[in-house]
Amino acid sequence: MSEDIFIRRARIADATAISELNNRFADQALMLRRSPEMISLAIDDYVVAVNDRGHILACGAIKEYSPSVAEVAAIAVAPEAHGKGLGRQVVAAVEQLALKRGISDVFALTLQPDFFQAIGYTRVDRARYPEKIRRDCLGCARRFACNEICFARRLRADQKEVKTASTEVIPFRIRAA
Ligand SMILES: CC(C)(COP(=O)(O)OP(=O)(O)OC[C@H]1O[C@@H](n2cnc3c(N)ncnc32)[C@H](O)[C@@H]1OP(=O)(O)O)[C@@H](O)C(=O)NCCC(=O)NCCS
Repeated sequence: MSEDIFIRRARIADATAISELNNRFADQALMLRRSPEMISLAIDDYVVAVNDRGHILACGAIKEYSPSVAEVAAIAVAPEAHGKGLGRQVVAAVEQLALKRGISDVFALTLQPDFFQAIGYTRVDRARYPEKIRRDCLGCARRFACNEICFARRLRADQKEVKTASTEVIPFRIRAA
């Protein structure tokens, strides 16, 4: 049986479900822990993938570091929906947000290098992003034992231009097997 899934901008009402999804992976030390309050404060930066019953299956966020640089952050796909292309589509939706904000240089710090490589990112030295190091890395308890790998992608302004049916919906619509 197949299921229609939509990717759209997140709403305040999604914050608890996003936090629960995020923290499933925080429990495995794969992601930073994020409370519903933290997510609410940054809700305009989030996208979610939702099934036709309104259940959030995946999320992702943009985190801006300068007018031209942003991190593709907080990418999470519910384990039961892994391997169906949702991660790739959520990253694409975050990239669309970046382009709409005039940002073409995006990066990710990740423990999932094979995923980012598979979706077209290139491994780079994190020193390329001193804004990230200054804001987050210097104060991090794991700064001398960090095993996250930096990946980056230069976005093209003409990349997969979207026609939005409403301001709420980013019209990626995928059919998950
Ligand atoms: C990493 C994650 C987001 C991938 O989501 P997903 O929906 O399963 O990925 P997709 O189905 O979109 O896969 C896209 C491509 O990446 C590859 N891929 C995905 N996860 C992979 C992994 N762990 N190792 C190797 N390749 C992987 C897929 O094979 C696919 O490649 P293909 O198109 O050449 O076949 C998901 O496993 C997840 O939520 N993990 C836990 C949270 C996490 O670590 N998030 C990253 C934080 S930066």
